Amino acid sequence: MTPMIRSNICLNAHPAGCEAMVGDWIARVMAAKTTITAAAKASGKPLPKAVLVLGCSTGYGLASRITAAFACGAATVGVSLEREPSDRKSGTPGWYDNRAFDAAALKAGLFSATFDADAFADETRAKVIALAKAEGLRFDQVIYSLASPVRTDPATGVMHRSVLKPLAEPFTGRTFDVVDGSMSEVTIQPATDDEVAATVKVMGGEDWALWIRALSGAGVLAPGCVTVAYSYIGPEHTARIYRGGSIGRAKEDLERTAGSLSRELAPLGGAAYVAVNKAVVTRASAVIPVVALYVAALFKTMKELGLHEDCQDQMLRLYRDRLLASGPVPVDAEGRIRLDELEMRADVQEGTTRRFYAATEANLADTVDLEGFRHDFLEAHGFDMPGVDYDADVPFR
Ligand SMILES: NC(=O)c1ccc[n+]([C@@H]2O[C@H](COP(=O)([O-])OP(=O)(O)OC[C@H]3O[C@@H](n4cnc5c(N)ncnc54)[C@H](O)[C@@H]3O)[C@@H](O)[C@H]2O)c1
Repeated sequence: MTPMIRSNICLNAHPAGCEAMVGDWIARVMAAKTTITAAAKASGKPLPKAVLVLGCSTGYGLASRITAAFACGAATVGVSLEREPSDRKSGTPGWYDNRAFDAAALKAGLFSATFDADAFADETRAKVIALAKAEGLRFDQVIYSLASPVRTDPATGVMHRSVLKPLAEPFTGRTFDVVDGSMSEVTIQPATDDEVAATVKVMGGEDWALWIRALSGAGVLAPGCVTVAYSYIGPEHTARIYRGGSIGRAKEDLERTAGSLSRELAPLGGAAYVAVNKAVVTRASAVIPVVALYVAALFKTMKELGLHEDCQDQMLRLYRDRLLASGPVPVDAEGRIRLDELEMRADVQEGTTRRFYAATEANLADTVDLEGFRHDFLEAHGFDMPGVDYDADVPFR
């Protein structure tokens, strides 16, 4: 089975490859487990016992769930929205990742329950709350890691669609084809006010707040409960399309929501944080012009400096060096947890900028980390995993 890739979108996923990838992340977390328990011991902070991960199946959410379960020993409940496989068509990577996670958790004697459901729907909140009550779980962590193009507002039934567009002026940026390395220029028209508002509806903090209020109201949050949602800032080159674009407005809203949720969780001794993570290759980042080229240039620079991290490295650091650090959780002046400090270091940005502007179609494979980008992109769909026989027939289910 080979990957079917069109315009940097991979349309299929390999069941055994996804399982191998999840197994690989679990093994890495198990190897780092003693550093997590040592951090908890040194700070006197308890390891989480029950963790809810919204957006649990891939990327940062999956890495968070694996850390909570396999390094902290937590019971985990996950929610993600997947396409099931049929006899003729593979499911989404997340469908296989969830299955692999649940099987590994069961084998390790860890409680796990996974909902394949729309996290934006009130019914899904009700199902999670019913399960928590039935199992006697009170969440001491809620991880919010949803990345979605659409959200149906449960209050109005209106479906909102998010856009990745600049504000005010059109934006032209370069991108590359992950398969053949050809480069092209893409121009994106600015978002309208309605599109910006819709993007905030989908990717802003409204749904996060609905979750925390519903869980708190139902009494399924433990004292001291911490909730973390993920954000991104990034450098100048991506600012017009990312932080200064429609998605940036949504992230600002998410960050404001952390402030109000912290105040609401205070009586419980809890807190809400936004963690600013580093840029990694995911299904979304490969299709954003400029961002893909920036990420490939960043990877080359960070690998050369011995600073490279993927989702799993970042989430181990979130737990060990931030959530379980001695004293208050380290945050920046705006109250955000920063995991992008290596990406934003002056020498990393200098090297990345040089490569970003030097890259041409002729020199792409040497100038940026095309191979590393391609591997991570394929791995996210269960391809290019060592030890997997891609010639063998695999049932999709
Ligand atoms: N990728 C990056 O470089 C990067 C960097 C910093 C921060 N972040 C942030 O991290 C968060 C997660 O992003 P990611 O890159 O890991 O994305 P991802 O696409 O790998 O994961 C998104 C998750 O959301 C789930 N999901 C989407 N719509 C859903 C719905 N309606 N109901 C239930 N589940 C749904 C998916 O199933 C998946 O589990 C986002 O907030 C993103 O902005 C990403």
